[in-house]
Amino acid sequence: MSHPCLAATKLAHAFDYPLYREVSLAIRPSESVAVMGRSGSGKSTLLHTLAGLIAPLEGKVELLGRDLYRISESEKEMLRRNRTGIVFQQHYLFKGMTGRENVEIAAMLARQEIDETLFEVLEIDTVIDQKVSELSGGQQQRVSLARVLSKKPQVIFADEPTGNLDLETSDLVMKVLLNYVAEQKAALFMVTHDPEVAGKCDRVYLLEEQRLKPYEESVGKRL
Ligand SMILES: Nc1ncnc2c1ncn2[C@@H]1O[C@H](COP(=O)(O)OP(=O)(O)O)[C@@H](O)[C@H]1O
Ligand SMILES: [Mg+2]
Repeated sequence: MSHPCLAATKLAHAFDYPLYREVSLAIRPSESVAVMGRSGSGKSTLLHTLAGLIAPLEGKVELLGRDLYRISESEKEMLRRNRTGIVFQQHYLFKGMTGRENVEIAAMLARQEIDETLFEVLEIDTVIDQKVSELSGGQQQRVSLARVLSKKPQVIFADEPTGNLDLETSDLVMKVLLNYVAEQKAALFMVTHDPEVAGKCDRVYLLEEQRLKPYEESVGKRL
């Protein structure tokens, strides 16, 4: 079996109250993992910890073979910029620029060529040269996904990537994400409220009672 792209061991975190502990997880190339759980259970915190944005209180994260919270800030920054991509729930596009310019900047920073077919498969090719502020929320979300994928990341983190999308667009976004994972042998860690969306991933977990549990064991429970 190939080495995991992402391996978390016994992670724990707390803010005003304990969020989770004993969270261990490995994601190998071409694998997709979804985490569900109630609002406030710590899903976003876990995603940020796995992505290198919030140091865990306990435990270890190995991202692409590197001990994420032991390496230097600059090495972590290079990993984040060049080899991982984060799709946030609220995307951070430059609103005064066109969609294409937003994608170009990200691709340039990661020293990658833009893959024009991405605009077609995401069905934004006809609007990509418009200013981001003129696009609908769903179109902006897809531009932001194009921006992340154009960096050719080996690990993708996605926090509710379909949260604000209609059913059809949500299906399209998942299809593009999972095709990318298969084609590039990348790893996907995503958070979602939607069991249907989660079910498209290889493995589904539930964050509840401060633990990360396989979702199958929890079938029938309400979220
Ligand atoms: N930077 C922070 N400082 C203090 N509390 C935080 C911070 N980030 C998140 N929290 C709290 O931690 C809890 C879990 O948040 P979050 O990880 O965003 O949960 P989820 O994504 O599952 O809704 C919430 O109660 C939230 O208010
Ligand atoms: Mg969240």
